[in-house]
Amino acid sequence: KDLQKHKIDYVFKVVLIGDSAVGKSQLLARFARNEFNVDSKATIGVEFQTKTLVIDHKTVKAQIWDTAGQERYRAVTSAYYRGAVGAMLVYDMTKRQSFDHMARWLEELRGHADKNIVIMLIGNKCDLGSLRAVPTEDAQEFAQRENLFFMETSALEATNVETAFFTVLTEIY
Ligand code: GTP
Ligand code: MG
Repeated sequence: KDLQKHKIDYVFKVVLIGDSAVGKSQLLARFARNEFNVDSKATIGVEFQTKTLVIDHKTVKAQIWDTAGQERYRAVTSAYYRGAVGAMLVYDMTKRQSFDHMARWLEELRGHADKNIVIMLIGNKCDLGSLRAVPTEDAQEFAQRENLFFMETSALEATNVETAFFTVLTEIY
């Protein structure tokens, strides 16, 4: 593609965190390759994908890191967060517990990442509206209190996925 011929002005590392099965890997698949896999397997260790995009006439290479939500499959925490300038804090809006754990994930993030990191709270699986277990207002309130951006997304239906990543990358830039 044309983009690849341009020089890269910036490389931004963004990390995905949140409980297992909230949809981190599928958000990444949707953003990086416009794909979705219903039979997504739990992530083991760390994976990453890149996507190059133009923001404000600058070529930005987003390097998105994805790790396991399950403790036993997680990689070395400090290495995962090192150099990250953006973070997606993901819960499943049909699973209250995954939202209740956001405070803990945020604590880990703030303990390891740069203090200027841009953080987006994401309520994923908004295509399953009838099973909603987390009211939008609860998440908005949490996001406001903790100074996070907030969006509800669906990796399945591609709702707000691009917007969410784009917002974080624009704020970093
Ligand atoms: P770990 O790797 O274990 O941390 O999980 P994960 O957060 O990466 O979850 P993953 O992306 O593997 O998705 C878990 C399950 O949720 C899979 O069956 C996905 O197909 C499904 N899923 C992911 N995103 C969505 C979505 O937006 N809507 C619906 N309905 N299902 C989704
Ligand atoms: Mg995964």
